This record gives sequence, C-alpha cells and structure tokens, in this order.
Amino acid sequence: VNIILLGPPGAGKGTQAKRLVDERNMVQLSTGDMLREARSSGTEMGKKVAEVMDKGGLVTDEIVIGLIEEKITGNAGGGFIFDGFPRTLKQADALGALLEKTGQSLDAVIEMQVDDAALVARITGRFTCGGCGAVYHDVTKPTKVAGTCDVCGSTQMVRRADDNEDSLKHRLMEYYKKTSPLIGYYYARGKLASVDGLAEMEAVAAAVAKVLDKK
Ligand code: AP5
Ligand code: ZN
Repeated sequence: VNIILLGPPGAGKGTQAKRLVDERNMVQLSTGDMLREARSSGTEMGKKVAEVMDKGGLVTDEIVIGLIEEKITGNAGGGFIFDGFPRTLKQADALGALLEKTGQSLDAVIEMQVDDAALVARITGRFTCGGCGAVYHDVTKPTKVAGTCDVCGSTQMVRRADDNEDSLKHRLMEYYKKTSPLIGYYYARGKLASVDGLAEMEAVAAAVAKVLDKK
C-alpha cells in the first residue's frame, strides 16, 4: 500500500513513518530528509534550500517534485510512505501523475490531527540521532541512557536549525495557507482518513495500523 502522512510540523509524521518501515517493510520518502541531505552537500542548490528551510518557508515545487520523481521508480518494498510530501496542490497533482505513470496507486491519506499549542512543545523538545536518524523528545521520548541513542549507540545528538519558535510559526502559517487545502482535495477523492495525533505514540500507531489493515 502507498500512503501519505499529512499533518502540521510536529504532528508525528516522521515518528510513525519510521515505525511502519520497521514493522511493515515500507519505504519512507521524506522530502524534509532529502532536502537536509541536499543542504549538507554544500552545492549551490543546497545553499538556497538551507536558507528557505531555516526560515520555515517551502522549497519550490520543482525541486521537491524532482526529488520524489527520482525515488518513486525504485523498489517500494511494502509500499511508499510519503512523509511531508505533497505540501501544495501542485505537488499533489504531480504525485498523482507520477503514480499513474508508474502504474501505482495511492491507497490512503492519513491526516494526523493535533492542536497548535501542542506543536510548540513537540518541536522545541525534539532531537535526533546523528548516526541513524532515530527521533527523540526531551519529555515524551528520552533516550534510555542520557545522550546515547537507544538504536545505534551513537552519542551524536542533533537539533534541527528550524526547530525554534520563530521558524515554527512560519512553518505553521505555510501549512495552513498551502498544505491544509489538501485535506479537502483528498477527502473529495475518497482517500482521507483522520487519526488523533495528540494521543500517545502507541495509540497513534494503532490507529494508523487500523487504516492500513483495511486497505
Ligand atoms: P519536514 O522535515 O517535513 O518537517 P515538518 O513537516 O515541519 O515536520 P517535522 O519533521 O517537524 O514533524 P513530524 O510531523 O515528522 O514530527 P516528529 O515525528 O518528528 O520539513 C522541513 C522543511 O523542509 C520545511 O519547513 C520546508 O522548508 C522543507 N520541505 C520539506 N518537504 C517539502 C515539500 N514537500 N515542499 C516544500 N518544502 C518542503 O515528532 C515531533 C516530536 O514530537 C518528536 O520529538 C517526537 O518524539 C514527538 N512525538 C511524536 N509523536 C508523539 C506523540 N504521539 N506523543 C508525544 N510526542 C510525540
Ligand atoms: Zn542512532
């Protein structure tokens, strides 16, 4: 099955995507991760991307559609999880066309519902493992041994440059202006399923599993 995880910054898209990779052998396609990789390459494109991301704006549709196009023809394992893509109506149309061209379909769009107040705490407490990308939180998901990754043992923990309150406000504004119309877009196509993203991680995972098992 191919799914989209849709929701504002901090809704828990990355957290749930990583679980689906482990439990169902699905392939996570996170445009945020791809763009962070591009920026660390130090190319001219990477530098432009970094500037936009740090302020919390959206990178151009052409760039992200290009990144997805490169990956979508590869092995899908148990299916693709589109995480943080599409984010605009143009990206949604492009994804539809790419899937059709490659003989694939979109099975569900899972909207993770949260409220804005909770997002600030989620984003400002987040850190990730520099070794394997595991996602943690100061309060809701600390590492077992302080400063050491539970998964790979790395002691290199990183915080994202855009995980501050100013940038988050801009990211939220972009979400409401440009991404939230996708809820209606996919509802009208009979693809939308909503889960309570404010619940505990396990409960969210169970709700996501229920949607997938119906497909
Ligand atoms: P991206 O990397 O996609 O970031 P985002 O959408 O802002 O989402 P986040 O990664 O912040 O949140 P998440 O929902 O994955 O939450 P997580 O699971 O980590 O994009 C970054 C930037 O790249 C954009 O601003 C833009 O510039 C650019 N970009 C990317 N894609 C683009 C596109 N398609 N077009 C244009 N530009 C694009 O969880 C957050 C925290 O909460 C963690 O600490 C976690 O441990 C904790 N947590 C998770 N679930 C729970 C729970 N149920 N209970 C308690 N805590 C929880
Ligand atoms: Zn790790």
